[in-house]
Amino acid sequence: MAEASSVKNGSVLKDIRMDGKTVLITGANTGIGYETAKDLSSRGAKVIMAGRDAGKVEKAMKEIKSCDPKANLVGVELDLASMESIRKCADKIMETEAKLDVLINNAGIMSCPQWKTKDGFEMQLGVNHIGHFLFTNLLLDLIKRSSPSRIVILSSSGHTRGRMNWDDIMSEKKYNPFVVYCQSKLANILFARELSRKLEGTGVTCNSVHPGLVKTELGRHFMNKEGTWNTIKYYLVFPFVKMIFKTPEQGAQTSIYCAVAPELNQVSGKYFADCKIEEEAPAAKNDEDAKRLWELSLEWTGLTK
Ligand SMILES: NC(=O)c1ccc[n+]([C@@H]2O[C@H](COP(=O)([O-])OP(=O)(O)OC[C@H]3O[C@@H](n4cnc5c(N)ncnc54)[C@H](OP(=O)(O)O)[C@@H]3O)[C@@H](O)[C@H]2O)c1
Repeated sequence: MAEASSVKNGSVLKDIRMDGKTVLITGANTGIGYETAKDLSSRGAKVIMAGRDAGKVEKAMKEIKSCDPKANLVGVELDLASMESIRKCADKIMETEAKLDVLINNAGIMSCPQWKTKDGFEMQLGVNHIGHFLFTNLLLDLIKRSSPSRIVILSSSGHTRGRMNWDDIMSEKKYNPFVVYCQSKLANILFARELSRKLEGTGVTCNSVHPGLVKTELGRHFMNKEGTWNTIKYYLVFPFVKMIFKTPEQGAQTSIYCAVAPELNQVSGKYFADCKIEEEAPAAKNDEDAKRLWELSLEWTGLTK
């Protein structure tokens, strides 16, 4: 399929500017989030880099500034495994920012041991979906006031292997780390779908993204003996798999595309990979499941709408 007009050789054209725009990226201290922050700030955007470790965020900001001293960066602390931290961070943004043109829900955790968030949710669903659900909703008035504005949600092609396990949604009875990751990435698309439906007519779009297979720290729990792969498999197989991986800069292109491409001004509720609309799995197009997940997420987070 031909490349979109804003893309050349897999990269988003550098002359698309973001001057005067404010962007917030979760998990911006490393990997795809870091490269997205670096790119969008080079286009003139003010980039709010959110991360759970203030030291790591500070270091990442310094690195970007060392390449681009004019980069307009703000660091904020956000632990998506804690509703207290999420509310504190959202309150700060609402107090200090006059607008928010783009929110990129990028942070993620994959195949960790059977951990729980501070509020008792299964960690992968808790961070990847529930934390972002709460954060997005707390910022929604500001995003709507900034319309036309965009929300970009990082999912994964792993969603095709996911299913919403409604009978054991927190995976308490059975915990397979990768299956649980895939459920959380399916939840990302169902959330984007329902949010985009609710945002019709507001000028706010919401799309989801598969970044590709990208060489980042996401596989960090594979090395953990409680994770999916054992150490032997990791060292024997992973070096070969890694050869086909994208660099983080390449992996950031679809997020960047969804944040900046002028041809996407009115495009919402879609799933993107390689800077193109892709067909998501049938389970990700189930509107009943999207509504059910929304209602449950309201209960989990104590939100009323
Ligand atoms: N890499 C791939 O091949 C791939 C493929 C498909 C989808 N994705 C998706 O792409 C997104 C970015 O992943 P990546 O590959 O760049 O992974 P990464 O290098 O591991 O970066 C993940 C980011 O999320 C942050 N994070 C983790 N738990 C958090 C929490 N509780 N609160 C706040 N931030 C938290 C991490 O912070 P710390 O550094 O402090 O841990 C880090 O900044 C994820 O949503 C992932 O599911 C990646």
